[in-house]
Amino acid sequence: MRILTIGGGGRECAAVDAFHRAGSDIYAVMKNANPGIICRAEEYLLADEKDIAAICKFAKENMIELAFVGPEAPLEAGIVDALEREGVPCASPTKAAARIETSKSFMRELVRKHKVDGNLEYAAFDNPADTEAYLKKVDHQIVVKPIGLTGGKGVKVEGEHLHTLKDIMDYVGEIFDQNIGGSGVIIEEKAVGEEFTQMAFCDGKTVAPMPLVQDHKRAYEGDVGPNTGGMGSYSDADHLLPFIGNGDREKSLAIMRQIVSAMSEEGCPYRGVMYGQFMLTKNGPKIIEINARFGDPEAMNVLPILEDNFEKICWDMANGTLSESVRFAKKATVCKYVVPRGYGTKPESGSEISIDMEAVKRSGAEAFYANVEMVNDKIITGTSRAVGIVGIDKTLEEADRNCETALTFVKSDAVYVRHDIGTRDLVQRRVDHMREILAK
Ligand code: AMP
Ligand code: GLY
Repeated sequence: MRILTIGGGGRECAAVDAFHRAGSDIYAVMKNANPGIICRAEEYLLADEKDIAAICKFAKENMIELAFVGPEAPLEAGIVDALEREGVPCASPTKAAARIETSKSFMRELVRKHKVDGNLEYAAFDNPADTEAYLKKVDHQIVVKPIGLTGGKGVKVEGEHLHTLKDIMDYVGEIFDQNIGGSGVIIEEKAVGEEFTQMAFCDGKTVAPMPLVQDHKRAYEGDVGPNTGGMGSYSDADHLLPFIGNGDREKSLAIMRQIVSAMSEEGCPYRGVMYGQFMLTKNGPKIIEINARFGDPEAMNVLPILEDNFEKICWDMANGTLSESVRFAKKATVCKYVVPRGYGTKPESGSEISIDMEAVKRSGAEAFYANVEMVNDKIITGTSRAVGIVGIDKTLEEADRNCETALTFVKSDAVYVRHDIGTRDLVQRRVDHMREILAK
């Protein structure tokens, strides 16, 4: 089938790889010349991923039969609605359905209205004075979020990034003054526990789960530093995580099923990959955010171990014919993102990076290019994450070992990697932390 993919990051590189394995003919639109996507594509267009007119023209010229959108920005711009008007079925949500991600207040209100489990206390504001009046009343710790999209970097947590009412109000002021996220502020109750990602394929009514993944948003080893789009992630061979059992996993899936049926009732049925970010707390899983797409890096954990045909799954999501279970290999994965030095604060771009792809494969790993650019046969880093290396094996320890071996075949003198992701030490710290929380 002739497939259109939109996006040029590591997540899209992994999706293109899965389409390639499924035998698809790939037509890619991306803003950066991603070498991992280009080498699989019949044709590609370098364009702004929100340029609806250019993308629709490219889709028509190439007689696209099915489209898959990686990032959230084109979803918010209405790319799916526009492609569907041209008669192209899409395995991604419409603009109205993508509000589950693009408006944090839409998500919380939907969950409140439909009495979905796992909600947190929250209030949304369009000015600093009302925000401050509310903050003076609440008696729990809070999290400050811009309501709209910020690329995963706009959230600040009391007790971590913010310590006093003044800190909180300074940040709230900044969000309004600089119009960060574009639609005001949401104050949420702070959930305490361990975070995990549950992604699922959805076709408007059926929800088919993927293995659980744990992402690492903090920039530096030991989980410190600014929040990033995600520095790396791991998944385990039993598709659970070492600190979460089947019961809590089922609860998070039930929450996602409730959301999918609530969206149908609201007249904006949800088709595409849904990303549930949850905090496992003393009182079960709580919703941190719901995204309208694969996670990045999490896509790189699950797609390489997908056993069913990705093209067929996408066709079924677009057409409402998805089966309730999708098969994944019983393997553990550890993904570490190679990022430009300074990523998270002041990234240095423009350095050369080279990867021995054959050696990476021989190590039991995969490499997915992300924010890099092919320039005169050289691969040059941008300001965001450069390449995701994913070790795959029977156990987490072996997957981590494969990932680390593969990383030695990535050459660049201006990059940084969080080597602690997926290690026995860090995973054990997560298990101990969860135990402590449950014992309180
Ligand atoms: P988000 O972009 O909404 O995923 O938020 C980024 C990070 O901030 C999350 O991965 C969490 O670590 C943290 N966070 C967001 N919302 C909350 C919350 N309500 N309670 C505790 N931590 C949160
Ligand atoms: N890994 C976090 C995200 O994709 O939103």
